[in-house]
Amino acid sequence: MIFFLFSIFSIVQSSDSIDLPLPPDLSVLEGMDVTLAIPDEQRLFKHILQNYDTSVRPVFNAAKVVNISLGLTLTHIFNINEKSQVLSLNVWVEQLWHDERIKWDPKDFGNVSKLTVGVNYVWTPDIVLYNNAQDFSRGFVDTNLHIMSDGSMQWAPPVKIYSICRMKTDFFPFDDQFCFLEFGSWIYDISQMDLTVLERYDGKDPFTIDSFTENGEWEIVANKTQKLMRGRNSVYPTIVFALHLRRRILYFLYNIIVPCIMLSILTMMQFMLPCESGEKITLGLTVLLAYSVFSFNIAESMPETSDSIPLIAIYIMAIMAISALSVCLSVCVLNMRHGADNLSKVPAFLDFVAFKVLAKFFGDDLQNLANEKTSKINGGFRKDDYNREMISHSLLARIEQEDEIESLSQHWSHLSQIFDRFFFFCIFFITVATSVILLIICPMFSERNFNELTDFSDYSNF
Ligand SMILES: *[C@@H]1O[C@H](CO)[C@@H](O)[C@H](O)[C@H]1NC(C)=O
Ligand SMILES: *[C@@H]1O[C@H](CO)[C@@H](O)[C@H](O)[C@H]1NC(C)=O
Ligand SMILES: *[C@@H]1O[C@H](CO)[C@@H](O)[C@H](O)[C@H]1NC(C)=O
Repeated sequence: MIFFLFSIFSIVQSSDSIDLPLPPDLSVLEGMDVTLAIPDEQRLFKHILQNYDTSVRPVFNAAKVVNISLGLTLTHIFNINEKSQVLSLNVWVEQLWHDERIKWDPKDFGNVSKLTVGVNYVWTPDIVLYNNAQDFSRGFVDTNLHIMSDGSMQWAPPVKIYSICRMKTDFFPFDDQFCFLEFGSWIYDISQMDLTVLERYDGKDPFTIDSFTENGEWEIVANKTQKLMRGRNSVYPTIVFALHLRRRILYFLYNIIVPCIMLSILTMMQFMLPCESGEKITLGLTVLLAYSVFSFNIAESMPETSDSIPLIAIYIMAIMAISALSVCLSVCVLNMRHGADNLSKVPAFLDFVAFKVLAKFFGDDLQNLANEKTSKINGGFRKDDYNREMISHSLLARIEQEDEIESLSQHWSHLSQIFDRFFFFCIFFITVATSVILLIICPMFSERNFNELTDFSDYSNF
């Protein structure tokens, strides 16, 4: 019991010995300027913004013009929508101007020569994208801006812009596009605000790239920047940034053009197939079917405009037509192959065309073979003269008739073989010519020259 009491006592004792924090010693602050306790930047902020109204232009003399330097930094080409003709980009809209109302001596504010403030506290120019495809809100992120001690302001808000860009799809997918971004003040005219193209301190282009992510479909070929005067009486200064974009071809090469070339080869193969196989037409129709399945796929990735027919659509139409033509020609050849079935003779003109004209190029070996065969058959019978007596006349007549049919069908068969070869060369030639013209020669005309574009005033027609 005594031990218990003792232990309680000792606990009370030890809790007594915990020392509490002392109250702050105010005597340190005595005799000090209380304003010093406010941070330098806060003091400067108060100093700048007393009597500052954000809605008026930053000039003392109302007759003076505010000069804005405008530059653009591209970080990403987000998308180009051919269907709605909209280009979307991620950019920083760099704006530099001078605010006459702001000025301080860094020495008075703890050597602070640059202050960062929220964009809502000071006047900012109302720069908008004129050829906007979305709403006309400025869309800039409300990032802070820099103020220098001499009153110069730097603001570069990042923004995703949707701009109208008129596409010319005649040469799709071998196309080049020119897109224009037109920036200007929405409300101030030249008497109040002037725009100039930004001159960067490091000598870079006013329209530059930074932390740029390449787009998989488009590459930038060139760019230009120009100042224009817009509106009635040309009182609205605007800056136009032009981009020359070229579509990367690999995707279409891999997914459309190479398969089409393979199918073209199959189309030609149908003339190599012997008539006896009975698969000539089947092959032709299968290829035709493959084309039509294929053209559905392509239609999806093609810009849906009726302005012009894209080159690739013309190409697919052409090779589909060639394929259909090949099926027709195969039917002709098959008809010739079975020409002897109803005992009809080879028409004279076909005979002439095939054996006199075409045989020179496509059937030399065939004709020799044919002559040999018939002479062998005929000769064989003539030599066996002694057999004649042994065979009755009726039988002889029948053999002769069969013999005749045999040679007739031989004749037709050679005719069909010659035409098979002839058609093969025709289709081969047409296919190669079509492919070379549409896939190699035509795209050469697509490269519209960006350097010709010297006057931007009517760029929409370019
Ligand atoms: C803007 O530039 C013009 C011509 O360069 C100049 O006369 C004018 O004083 C400038 N405005 C301001 C506010 O500096
Ligand atoms: C400001 O800079 C000057 C010269 O560099 C220096 O002498 C002075 O101590 C600085 N003032 C403060 C508050 O840091
Ligand atoms: C524009 O061209 C200049 C010089 O040719 C280049 O330095 C700049 O990166 C180009 N800008 C864009 C957005 O490609």
